[in-house]
Amino acid sequence: MKTIGVIGAGQMGAGIAQVAAQAGYRVLLSDVSIEQAEKGKAGIAKRLARAVDKEQVGAAEADAARDRIEPQREHAAFAEAHIVIEAATERESIKRTIFAEVGKMMQPDAILASNTSSIPITRLAQAAPDPARFMGVHFFNPVPVMKPIELIRGLATSDATVATVEAFAQSLGKIVVHANDAPGFIVNRVLLPMLNEAIFALGEGVATVRDIDAAVSLGLNHPMGPLTLADFIGLDTCLEIARVLHEGTGDPKFRPAPLLIKYVEAGWLGRKTGRGFYDYSGPEPVPTR
Ligand code: CAA
Repeated sequence: MKTIGVIGAGQMGAGIAQVAAQAGYRVLLSDVSIEQAEKGKAGIAKRLARAVDKEQVGAAEADAARDRIEPQREHAAFAEAHIVIEAATERESIKRTIFAEVGKMMQPDAILASNTSSIPITRLAQAAPDPARFMGVHFFNPVPVMKPIELIRGLATSDATVATVEAFAQSLGKIVVHANDAPGFIVNRVLLPMLNEAIFALGEGVATVRDIDAAVSLGLNHPMGPLTLADFIGLDTCLEIARVLHEGTGDPKFRPAPLLIKYVEAGWLGRKTGRGFYDYSGPEPVPTR
């Protein structure tokens, strides 16, 4: 059985750990503390139990998938991983620190992949143990539901690394798309301007939160309105991506909306903090503007 390391047990890391475990991989899961890693595993167990209730997964299969996930206190065990996927906070300095630390533990033929949603892979590769065995593997949220995986190779990524990671992505039942190492890759290059524009429109008083979301989701047949989706992704992540697009292209069309910056400064990061464009403290989300 192949072993996959997942660094970060938040919504993306936990989702990646879940789909890998369900595909039969042994998964080593770490976060800033063993408690955070255990919390990530507990969330996965809950989602697997729900899938059993809905009769989408057999009980024995769900138990086996759950048991294949091993929360880790330290990265020493990552020496056993064939592929390590980093899904930590979307901040370059944090990712670089992680690569330096986990890189010391990894076997010389193991691959390190980052789930970054927009940081240039060629630049990040400089902090990896071997740029030839480093690439981007970008999952979408919620990972168990969303089909695509964007694969991004850096300038130094080897063909063998791409082939191994592509085979892994396909073994998860995902659809692989290839993107060049350009800011935002494909999906976020297209998505972020829409979310950002919705926030500009809100800040300029064009319409309320409820009306912007209703208009866009119903008018364009999107499953969620843009402000709901921004809260779902996390406003800090949206801002990080907007900044990467802005700085990476130098194009003012990508400048982050002032209201997005304000919300992040206020600590209103969306669902994960209980407040963003909606208040999530009650049974139903309530628009805040
Ligand atoms: N984890 C796992 N499964 C989840 C889930 C989660 N967090 N949330 C919902 N689901 C599953 C449900 O279990 C359900 O599965 P079944 O149909 O098999 O029972 C299914 O998704 C539908 O869920 P619901 O009926 O509860 O709710 P819904 O119909 O409103 O769908 C949604 C929820 C799938 C999240 C849908 O609203 C949606 O597709 N939204 C858009 C998501 C999107 O755009 N994601 C991309 C974000 S961008 C990104 O990820 C990249 C980045 O870098 C920022």
